[in-house]
Amino acid sequence: MPAIVLIGAQWGDEGKGKATDILAGQVQWVVRYQGGNNAGHTVVLPDGQDFALHLIPSGILTPGLRNVIGNGVVVDPGVLLDELSGLEARGVDTSNLMISADAHLIMPYHVAIDKVTERFLGKAKIGTTGRGIGPAYQDKVARVGVRVADVLDEKILRQKVEAALDLKNQMLVKVYNRRALDVDEVVDTVLQHGRRFAERIADTRLLLNKALENDETVLLEGSQGTLLDVDHGTYPFVTSSNPTAGGAAVGSGIGPNKITRVIGILKAYTTRVGSGPFPTELLDAMGEHLRKAGGEVGVTTGRPRRCGWFDAVIGRYAVRVNGITDFFLTKLDVLSGLENVPICVGYEVDGKRVDDMPMTQTDVHHALPVYEELPGWFEDLSACRTFDDLPANARAYVQRIEELTGAPVSAIGVGPGRDQTITRDV
Ligand code: IMP
Repeated sequence: MPAIVLIGAQWGDEGKGKATDILAGQVQWVVRYQGGNNAGHTVVLPDGQDFALHLIPSGILTPGLRNVIGNGVVVDPGVLLDELSGLEARGVDTSNLMISADAHLIMPYHVAIDKVTERFLGKAKIGTTGRGIGPAYQDKVARVGVRVADVLDEKILRQKVEAALDLKNQMLVKVYNRRALDVDEVVDTVLQHGRRFAERIADTRLLLNKALENDETVLLEGSQGTLLDVDHGTYPFVTSSNPTAGGAAVGSGIGPNKITRVIGILKAYTTRVGSGPFPTELLDAMGEHLRKAGGEVGVTTGRPRRCGWFDAVIGRYAVRVNGITDFFLTKLDVLSGLENVPICVGYEVDGKRVDDMPMTQTDVHHALPVYEELPGWFEDLSACRTFDDLPANARAYVQRIEELTGAPVSAIGVGPGRDQTITRDV
C-alpha cells in the first residue's frame, strides 16, 4: 500500500488542514515531515468546532488514526505540550501521537536568535514567524543540534546545551546586546518537558516502514508550501526546510518509491505572508477584497496575508518540482461575485515573455504577470456538491487551471466545512 504526499503548491496556507482531514478516512497514519510550529492549520469539525494546529498532524482529530512527528520536523517542547493539553481539554484523544527520536528540538536560544536576527536584518528581514525554526535547522546542519532522544539522557543533554550556549551566549550578549541564557535553566526546562512526552518518543521510521509492509496507507503532510522550500522556493524568502515532495521521504525515513500519489493543495487565488517577490500581488482594493472574502489572516502569527490572482506559472512549477499527480483546489467560493477573474498565464521579464519560473532571483523580482481574463460568476457555491452543480464559468475556471498547470483537479473546496468539498474522478 502506498504513501501519499500532501503539499502546498504555492506559499503555504492553501488549506491543507481540511484536505488532510478529508483524506484521514482513507489512511491509517498521518505524518508531519518538516517544519515546526511555524505552520498553522485550521480544521473545522462536523459539530462546527474549529481547531488551530501548529505542530501536531491534523490526523489527531480522527479517532483511531496514528500520528507521527517525523525526524525532519523541529519540535518546540513547550509548544508541543501546550498543543496536546489544548486538544485534550476539548476531548481529543492524543494517545496516538508518536515523535521521532531523531527530530530536532527548538531550544529557547533558537527562538531568541530568530527574533534578534530579524531585527538585525532591518529592511532585508525574511518576515519569519519568530518561532526559532531557522536557527534550529542551522544547528541541525551544523551538527550541534539537540534531538528529541537527548531528553532521555541528562548527561548528553547538558553537554550539548553547554557547548551550544558557549557560543550562542557570546552572540546574544556581544552582537545583539541581549541577556545570556543559563545552562541549568535551559536543561531543567527541557528535562521537565521531556518527562511529559518521553513515552511518545519512538523510532518512527521503523514504525512507518512496518506499517507500509503491512499494507497500511501513510499520509505525509507537508507544511508551508513549494515556494517556501529552502531549495526550490523564492530564496532567501523561504523557510529552512524542504516542504516539497522529495523532503517527505527524507523527513519520515521511508523510501521515495513508496510514494505513489502527490496531492498539491492549490488555492483558487494566491496568498503569501512574510517578505519576498509575489508577481500577481494586488495592492489595491481587489487585494483587500480577497483578504476579507477569504479570511486571509495567518493562523500562527495573526498577520494579514498578501493576496493576488491565481498564478499558473507557479502551478506548473509546483507540478514539476513535486511530481504532483492531482490538485485539491481550495476556496473557489471566495471568487464568487466578480465580473471577470484574471489568471496569470506567464510573465514578462525585462520585456521578454516567459512561461516558466525565471532562473534568477532578480528576474523573479522583475516578473510582471501576463493575464488572461475569464468570465466570473455570481452564484454562491457553498452548497455545490458535484462538479456539475457549479456554474459554467466556475467549471471553466477550474478546467483552465488544469490545462495551464498540467495536472487534474480531483477535489474542489467550496467552503470551510468538512462537507463543503466536491470530489471528482480524475
Ligand atoms: P520561518 O519558517 O518562521 O523561518 O519563516 C520563513 C518564511 O516562511 C516567512 O516568510 C514566513 O512567513 C513563512 N512561513 C512559515 N511558515 C508558514 C506557513 O505555515 N504558512 C505560510 N508561510 C509560512
